[in-house]
Amino acid sequence: MQVDGARILIVGATGVLGGRVAHALASRGARLALTGRDADRLDSVARETGAVCTFKLDVIDTTACGDVVRGAVDDLGGLDAVVVAHGLAAFGAAADTDEAVAEELLTVNTLAVMALARAALGQLSDGGVLCVVTAVLADMPMAGMAAYSASKAATSAYLSAIRREVRRSGVQVFDVRPPHMDTGLVDRAITGEPPRLPTGHDLDDVVEHLVRGLEEGKRELVADARGGALMLR
Ligand SMILES: NC(=O)c1ccc[n+]([C@@H]2O[C@H](COP(=O)([O-])OP(=O)(O)OC[C@H]3O[C@@H](n4cnc5c(N)ncnc54)[C@H](OP(=O)(O)O)[C@@H]3O)[C@@H](O)[C@H]2O)c1
Repeated sequence: MQVDGARILIVGATGVLGGRVAHALASRGARLALTGRDADRLDSVARETGAVCTFKLDVIDTTACGDVVRGAVDDLGGLDAVVVAHGLAAFGAAADTDEAVAEELLTVNTLAVMALARAALGQLSDGGVLCVVTAVLADMPMAGMAAYSASKAATSAYLSAIRREVRRSGVQVFDVRPPHMDTGLVDRAITGEPPRLPTGHDLDDVVEHLVRGLEEGKRELVADARGGALMLR
């Protein structure tokens, strides 16, 4: 995919990773539609990146997710990529995790992604990309993060399945599974204290790999289990 001039919707552009991706894509000439819950942060990322349009979106409302995809298509005049970078964490032993917490994680991290994908797949141009940030925990679930790991693994499995479904349509499905990064996501967890986490991976390295993966039509960004080095495949 050629990023220069590409029409790209970024969901969760108010987040640390989503914001960095928005800047990286804008600097390469992409035309952006941005979403976030925090209206002030959404406005400032939009100003800084010269975004075409913004949508205030709480992805708990999965119907609104589809509406936003269609709104972005209208405002951008089509859609070449969607980058889904929103997400929510929670910590604590599985036995102590309330049903409400599990429901919120599964809705935000999984069901909302499905709603966005459902709306986007029929709209993406030939050669377009559905890119979703899941997590290394989809492959390596961690104690104390059972519900979060499950929500990311479910999303990753969903992406693998739809990649097979759309393989003849020219649309790429790109599953980004980064290791831990110091974005503050951990401090914004809806419940619990995090287990001991490794040193955060360099955020610029993740952004650079994500953008390269979009450009080169990669299927996955994964972290090497030994050194944490990122690989595109
Ligand atoms: N940080 C890590 O260690 C790490 C590792 C692997 C994968 N990831 C994944 O990377 C992605 C980006 O996370 P980050 O580290 O950049 O964290 P972040 O800075 O906390 O960003 C999270 C984003 O998700 C949005 N969000 C959360 N709940 C939402 C809801 N109900 N409706 C709409 N938006 C909602 C936030 O929106 P507002 O700010 O506008 O509320 C924000 O844009 C997430 O999918 C995360 O799971 C993170």
